[in-house]
Amino acid sequence: MPATIVVGAQWGDEGKGRVVDYFAERADYVVRYQGGNNAGHTIVVGDQRLALSLIPSGIHYPNCTPVIASGTVIDPAVLIAEMDMAASKGLDPSRIRVSTNAHLVMPYHRKLDAVIERFLGKNQIGTTKKGIGPAYTDKYSRFGIRVQDLFDPKIFAEKVHTALEDKNKILPRIYNTLPMDADEIIEEYLGYVERLRPHVEDTSLLLHRAINTGKEVLFEGAQGTLLDIDHGTYPFVTSSNPSAGGAIIGSGIGPKAIDEVIGVAKAYISRVGTGPFPTELHDDVGDKMIELGGEYGTVTGRRRRCGWLDLLALRYAVRVNSLTKVFLTKMDILSAFDTIKVATGYRSADDAFDEFPAQQSVLYHCEPVYEELPGWGEDITGVRRLDDLPKEARAYIEYVEAAIDTEVGWVSVGPERTQLIEL
Ligand code: IMP
Repeated sequence: MPATIVVGAQWGDEGKGRVVDYFAERADYVVRYQGGNNAGHTIVVGDQRLALSLIPSGIHYPNCTPVIASGTVIDPAVLIAEMDMAASKGLDPSRIRVSTNAHLVMPYHRKLDAVIERFLGKNQIGTTKKGIGPAYTDKYSRFGIRVQDLFDPKIFAEKVHTALEDKNKILPRIYNTLPMDADEIIEEYLGYVERLRPHVEDTSLLLHRAINTGKEVLFEGAQGTLLDIDHGTYPFVTSSNPSAGGAIIGSGIGPKAIDEVIGVAKAYISRVGTGPFPTELHDDVGDKMIELGGEYGTVTGRRRRCGWLDLLALRYAVRVNSLTKVFLTKMDILSAFDTIKVATGYRSADDAFDEFPAQQSVLYHCEPVYEELPGWGEDITGVRRLDDLPKEARAYIEYVEAAIDTEVGWVSVGPERTQLIEL
């Protein structure tokens, strides 16, 4: 698997962290290609847990170089704090490479994220309020400030002044909040320069050379396909491209460099924040999934919304990402249910759908059409071989594979690294 993308096949929180961790053991590079500290994953270092949001998984493998590529948005204070935290747990953050072209999350992005959400009221997206959306907005408006700008204090100061000229009109007049001081921001950010300098390089060239010399490169998607700005449930999405195409653009390598695209999907489905969710459960079955699955956000601690596996959404993820295989996580949580439902279609007042609808309004008004499969009703957390799974669990996997016309390559049956079945 020389160049492999691992991508979330649902609305994020599919368990990508543990999947990337599994593959990272033999990877030479693990690359974050989009998003910022809106993502979150926890890695286990000895008997300690380390919660990371920007640093890619793989930091704890000495053979592996973590790369934060150009498609990401970086809050430097967060990155430095995470590097310090990693060092305090005995890890070596000096290997972390940061793209010179990545954009910076600035204090006014965080402020805008909060006030825009407040302003939207009941229409709010439910963002993580880390400034991610406003940072990408500035990137595309060409007001963005990149990592490389930090190394030219004059240019950096000019860019902050230009950006703030705009923001300081918007903040008080539209959002009724105080303007921000450019000099304070400039001083704070120039204070990060020497900490960041040893990490910054042309990561596109680094990855190009790595791939050309047969190194194993793992691209780690944050969030998930249905949160993709282009292919997700817009506008209730993140502001970047978590889907596989984002790995290409966001890392500065070409599509032919990629060998495998692995989609990570929970054996059920969840989402945080607002937005349509056809198979969402508002009953005690949903509550049971949340409690048994520990479905609370890593970054914001919010209770996730949960529901039965949506096969239309998963088939859509196969299509949008060219998934070569699926990694099914949290299969053990389904052991608690007598029967297991999967959505095989949607029905609205005057239509029926067997593919994920392109028209957003359908998702609000449709009802899922469920197939009911028998549960297995026994603990599977100790199972390590496909043959040892109860026959109903094997049938469930086969059903999913047939419905999405894609192989399930792995199933996880518990949170520990070893609680995994390779099919
Ligand atoms: P933002 O990425 O902070 O702008 O938030 C936009 C939407 O994406 C919100 O619905 C968030 O809850 C969701 N989101 C962002 N990051 C994650 C994640 O890592 N997992 C799940 N949802 C996320």
